[in-house]
Amino acid sequence: MDASATISELLLDWYRTHARRLPWRAPPGENAPEPYRVWLSEVMLQQTTVAAVIPYFEKFTSRWPTIEALAAAPEEEVMAAWAGLGYYSRARNLVKCARAVAELGAFPETEEGLRALPGLGAYTAAAVAAIAFGQRAVVVDANVERVVARLFAIDDPLPGARKEIREKADLVTLDRDAGDFAQAMMDLGATICTARDPRCLLCPLANACMGRMQGDPARLPVKAAKKAKPERIGTAYWIERAGKVWLVTRPGEGMLGGMRALPDDGWHARADGSGEAPVPGHWRDAGAVRHTFTHFHLTLKLKVLKGMEMDGEGEWWPLARLGDAGLPTLFAKVARLAVT
Ligand code: ADE
Repeated sequence: MDASATISELLLDWYRTHARRLPWRAPPGENAPEPYRVWLSEVMLQQTTVAAVIPYFEKFTSRWPTIEALAAAPEEEVMAAWAGLGYYSRARNLVKCARAVAELGAFPETEEGLRALPGLGAYTAAAVAAIAFGQRAVVVDANVERVVARLFAIDDPLPGARKEIREKADLVTLDRDAGDFAQAMMDLGATICTARDPRCLLCPLANACMGRMQGDPARLPVKAAKKAKPERIGTAYWIERAGKVWLVTRPGEGMLGGMRALPDDGWHARADGSGEAPVPGHWRDAGAVRHTFTHFHLTLKLKVLKGMEMDGEGEWWPLARLGDAGLPTLFAKVARLAVT
């Protein structure tokens, strides 16, 4: 057996006894789960932790148990159910993709076929091909990137090192047990080969790991210095009348697009917080919240006005049911300020 085959065998052996039991997973060696569940979990798990995803996965699969059910759901309902999970373009694409698959009659079974679905990137296509359809695919997420960078002591910084990491991941990927292998790499990264404090004494690949042999695996992968995130300031407006609050639906494809929200002054486009209120009136300052997005920090101030009539695009939402409005985390935080 060559060295790369040994690595894969050691990893699969380890996975047989150490695989995490997760609601979207089949235990090691068993038949693959339904493609719908694999796809949904992989979309949810992008940039999001397993712990955060589990309750959303349970909620989605009990409300929409099949891809056909999800395809038939109104987009607003899916967006509201996604609220709190972040990166909302994933939810918009989820609905588009579900409808495309329902139209086709089933998920395509190859990486290439999956990649052609709306919103399905290279990572998700590879993960679904491997996990749902047992196809050999090189599945590289951030956990796998870390494992491979250490195993082969790749010290070029990310993101430049991605090509080499992919080549090395390809080298150790088996032709069989594709789903177990992909998830074994993820679990090793998540539970043993952790970012700050790798637990090499428990690692099945310790004897093959060049990063460990060099003495300081935690320094890998090397990352290019991060740019400081810019600061933005904006204002959200709480307009309350007769036990209801005025909510809008954010437009189109932009930040938090398609999500219900409080009216605001366009912080997403503005750096100085100099925007205008949606209606004139005696606005009361009610504090501010901070929220960090991928590319900037936001301080969102809150202004409150009571008793105003409103018309135009928006809806009066009962305060007693605010928890069902599907507000994304930023606006849920400001709403909490307003009601306490
Ligand atoms: N992260 C991304 N996909 C995953 C999976 N299938 N299992 C655990 N963590 C993951």
